[in-house]
Amino acid sequence: MTRLFLIALLIVALGPVFTGAAQAADGKALFGFYCAQCHGTEGEGDGPNVTGDFPVDPRNFTETAEMEKISDADIRNVIIDGGPIADKSPMMPPWGKTLTDAEIEALVGYLRQLCNCTGKTG
Ligand code: HEC
Repeated sequence: MTRLFLIALLIVALGPVFTGAAQAADGKALFGFYCAQCHGTEGEGDGPNVTGDFPVDPRNFTETAEMEKISDADIRNVIIDGGPIADKSPMMPPWGKTLTDAEIEALVGYLRQLCNCTGKTG
């Protein structure tokens, strides 16, 4: 009985660890957590953090024509190093020290889902 209880306790305790790992590469969940406050929950560039003080609006990721102009590598670089790496605003923060490669890949994939586009190659 006690052993069964301990096993049950262990499963309950480790549950969140496993689900956390499973969600780690979920682009949508990552976007909601790290990006939506600026880029908007639907990726339309209208997050609650965005005020009139913003010198530039966060990218609206549903603008297919704009998103077609940049490659996956461009997106990856901006996510890792922030806006300035692509001569864009430092209001876009660097995430290279926060996110893993797999998480960044998942985000690139999610942005491509939002724009419903593949972007320029190379
Ligand atoms: C503090 C607000 C803020 C947060 C949080 C933020 N961004 Fe941004 N992001 C911006 C702004 C502002 C720009 C536009 C910069 C410019 O055009 O000069 C931008 C631009 C970008 C671009 C460049 C698009 C292009 O046209 O080249 C990408 C890609 C991007 N963000 C991805 C993300 C991702 C992914 C996250 C979450 C991990 C994120 N951003 C979080 C503010 C933010």
